[in-house]
Amino acid sequence: MTDWRAIEQKYYMKAGRRTDMLAVRAEGSKIWDEDGKEYLDFFGGPATISLGHSHPAMLDALIDQAKQLIHVSNQLYSIPQLKLAQLLVEHSCFDKVYFMNSGAEANEGALKLARKWGKEHKDGAYEIICTDNAFHGRTLQMITAGGTERYKAPFGPLPEGFPHVPFNDIEAVKRATTPKTVAVFIEPIQGEGGINVPDDAYFPALRKWCDENNILLIFDEVQTGCGRTGTLFAYEHWGIEPDIMTLGKGIANGVPLSAFLAKEHCAVFTPGDHGSTYGGEPLTTRVGYEVMKYIIEHDLSGRAAEKGKIVERRLHSLLDRYSNVTAVRGMGLMWAVQFSSDIGEAITKAALANGLLVNNVRPNAVRIVPPLTISDEELEQGLAILEHVIDMDAGPAK
Ligand SMILES: Cc1ncc(COP(=O)(O)O)c(C=O)c1O
Repeated sequence: MTDWRAIEQKYYMKAGRRTDMLAVRAEGSKIWDEDGKEYLDFFGGPATISLGHSHPAMLDALIDQAKQLIHVSNQLYSIPQLKLAQLLVEHSCFDKVYFMNSGAEANEGALKLARKWGKEHKDGAYEIICTDNAFHGRTLQMITAGGTERYKAPFGPLPEGFPHVPFNDIEAVKRATTPKTVAVFIEPIQGEGGINVPDDAYFPALRKWCDENNILLIFDEVQTGCGRTGTLFAYEHWGIEPDIMTLGKGIANGVPLSAFLAKEHCAVFTPGDHGSTYGGEPLTTRVGYEVMKYIIEHDLSGRAAEKGKIVERRLHSLLDRYSNVTAVRGMGLMWAVQFSSDIGEAITKAALANGLLVNNVRPNAVRIVPPLTISDEELEQGLAILEHVIDMDAGPAK
């Protein structure tokens, strides 16, 4: 049998850590390894497999579109791109869309838009207030906007104009604001930072501050968007509207597609300002269209909110019973369990051995982001495995 791990060791750059599993096939909420062992997938790419692996709505679109028209570039008009743009605008508070391929690229586009708006409408303001612990992707500008020092340290000098403030701290935003501030750039719920949910009052206060000071509010909904948190877009939870929003991950169920959306007043790009060879091509946008249509028509956001109650109940019972479970956080189908010490990796490994795929989103926390289509039975089964491994590792019960 081929030793794929040895081949990886020899030929592939070690730029990240892997879970020790060689995936060969997946369907719905299940994934199989090279030995045919079955796992429940509570990781989902992460948070990317919205409809479940190989969902028919996605597969049919992928195959049909591949036969018809895969790529033309943005030089030409194409129907799937425009259908998806219309669908997104009609179901959000935004007026214009532009498609890219990855979350980081969508964020790059959003920040370029804000900087151009600053030049034209705010006397050249360019500073973008970002948050500690944020994650926005791996391009040079996105590691700068992100809040993890070790992702930045080897790559300086970094672009300027990205002051950082603690998440969920409105007074810190006020202190960081200067006449040069053009935007606040923020995840509504921090994903890679450990599923950090802000207080209810935070976003209304932030919106008010941005309005009073002519500052754009940019939401990175790459992880929280497309039904994941129990509403189609997370901004809906707080009754506010950002000026710009980015999407990725769940928008096309694993096919590389992302988007940035803007209100008319800050959709300031003119021809020549932006572009991407693959961004918005017929193949990915057709899949994105069918996936988003399915999420909307089958109310998978509402379903995520319902299923989230099962997760919340089970996780809170862990918090009540196990001394080293110190917090559970989340909304919809986006959750984390936090431990009193850095046992996230050990829990992830034990879960894998027991047939559950999760990841340690922080050294002391495990994340749960299953497909939005997961059944109650699968959800209960996966949570039971998680409880079993926490029980093995947790020490004395409370
Ligand atoms: C909130 C958020 N923004 C941006 C990104 C980057 O997306 P991509 O890896 O597709 O560039 C991620 C990825 O985890 C994310 O969670």
